[in-house]
Amino acid sequence: MSNERRQIVLGVTGSIAACKSVELLRLLVQAGFDVRVIQTAASRNFVGMDAFQAVSGRPVLSEMFEGGDTITPAAGAQAGSGPSPDFTHIELARSRLLLIAPATANTIGKMAAGIADNLLLSTYLACACPVVVCPAMNCRMWEHPAVQDNLRLLERRGVIVVPPETGMLACGEEGAGRLAEPPRILARVIQLLGEPVHGDLEGLRVLVTAGGTREPIDSVRFITNRSSGKMGFAIAERSFSRGANVTVIAANCSLPRNPGIRYLDVVTSSELARVLNAEMGGFDVLFMTAAVSDYKVSGTGTMGKIERVDKKDLQLVPTSDIVSSLDRNNKCSLKVGFAAEYGEDNLERAREKMFSKDLDMIVFNDISRSDTGFDSDDNEITIMAKDRGDVFVDKTSKAECAERILDQVAELLADSSGGCP
Ligand code: C5P
Repeated sequence: MSNERRQIVLGVTGSIAACKSVELLRLLVQAGFDVRVIQTAASRNFVGMDAFQAVSGRPVLSEMFEGGDTITPAAGAQAGSGPSPDFTHIELARSRLLLIAPATANTIGKMAAGIADNLLLSTYLACACPVVVCPAMNCRMWEHPAVQDNLRLLERRGVIVVPPETGMLACGEEGAGRLAEPPRILARVIQLLGEPVHGDLEGLRVLVTAGGTREPIDSVRFITNRSSGKMGFAIAERSFSRGANVTVIAANCSLPRNPGIRYLDVVTSSELARVLNAEMGGFDVLFMTAAVSDYKVSGTGTMGKIERVDKKDLQLVPTSDIVSSLDRNNKCSLKVGFAAEYGEDNLERAREKMFSKDLDMIVFNDISRSDTGFDSDDNEITIMAKDRGDVFVDKTSKAECAERILDQVAELLADSSGGCP
């Protein structure tokens, strides 16, 4: 693939989510794209041009005057390292893709109305290439009919919208409006352009179990746990961004999905075991992130709904320990378990599980804390592997925890016989 064919334009507009665009840019560059960044004036209130220039290795384009068309490379831009100051929106519009992330309600509105009062909007109007818009804003702005109508209009004109996610917003409110996670945006770009992802895990086949199983009591009730699947999904997304071929066995996860990842949905622990055993042979690394129920109701559970007057005693029987009973057909397979432990000696109990379950690595998290772990966006973990020192990861996002876990896996694979890709 020639360099020219990998040129894309990243438009950054004035939302606090512009901070996440630096991470998105890093993933795009890592995946082999030559990215030109256009910042609107408002976005520079959140992130300076130097940050984007450092990551893209290209001068960042912006306007010296609002409403003008003058292009200002960031200070320190090397002559000859990118577009010259007379580089026009027409030239930029010849790129393979225009990606706008974050896209504010203001920019979306102007795109819909055909207003071209800055370089990014002029480039958009001049573009013949695919355009991807990733909105980010407060939840009430996102739900406003004006924004929704503008987006529907843009979609009818062929613009691809990567919808925002739901969660805690920068303004402190909770709702829809958070910029889609950078690996999900990367996946959409790659899917559109039909290109492989480059990264240090290129060619690695990764299988992740995620979420919490449900064991039926009757047709409406079940036994489950607090796992949301966020940690497993973060590992899957980060593996994908680093070039791996990823499959997720998802147990009851209602999280946004990445178009570059294959998902197999399961409900119960026995379904998870069946699908995992069927898939296992074709993978190099298994992340056993799912919280599998340790007990299920004896028999198959009752059909229908148990009534209060039935006064039923539930008979519980243990489920099988799935990861312990997997056979190691595939010499290459590396198994990573997860241990959510509570109370004294929790670290040592996790280490003991690594040995008793025949895992190569285990990721411990302390569930006596309420600010990390289950259903939270953050985690604090200790990564343990046989014959290696423990790696402690202080409280951070699950995405960052996933990166640290993958770093350790990459090191283990590099140290092992070299049989793995
Ligand atoms: O024993 P515990 O549930 O703490 O072990 C956690 C690890 O074992 C996780 O990786 C989990 O996915 C896996 N596990 C399993 N089968 C079970 C219970 C847990 O594979 N029935």
